[in-house]
Amino acid sequence: MAATRPQLIAAALAARKSAYAPYSQFRVGAAVETSDGRIVTGCNVENASYGLAICAERAAVCRAVAGGVQVIRRLAVVADYPTPCPPCGACRQFLHEFNPRMEIIMVNLKGARSTARLDRLLPRAFVLSRHRQRKI
Ligand code: THU
Repeated sequence: MAATRPQLIAAALAARKSAYAPYSQFRVGAAVETSDGRIVTGCNVENASYGLAICAERAAVCRAVAGGVQVIRRLAVVADYPTPCPPCGACRQFLHEFNPRMEIIMVNLKGARSTARLDRLLPRAFVLSRHRQRKI
């Protein structure tokens, strides 16, 4: 079973409501579709020690991996941003590990939407050769 894009976006929007962002007030929601068709969500979680903030995208991926999945098909990310909200550079590298060809669906609160494959957003990502064998 596959999740539809609107379902994934709705899940990201719902997850955004749980964001813990008292320092930046910038709330982010993310939802991933796993290789077995599940939707797993995440939100950003900040800390008084600012550098410890965890992005919504990485939170979602960590939950998916903890749930036993290591291949992510698609990710939707949503925030109040002037354009469809792009994942930060650190998240691009983090996501790359779990499928370089992942579809990234970027959304903002006005409903603007843009889609790109992760390997286009992060060309020449860092990979360790022994992990390249993993089946995607
Ligand atoms: N943030 C995300 O959750 N995802 C991104 O891709 C960019 C930034 C969060 C981290 C921090 O809590 C807040 O947005 C402001 O940077």
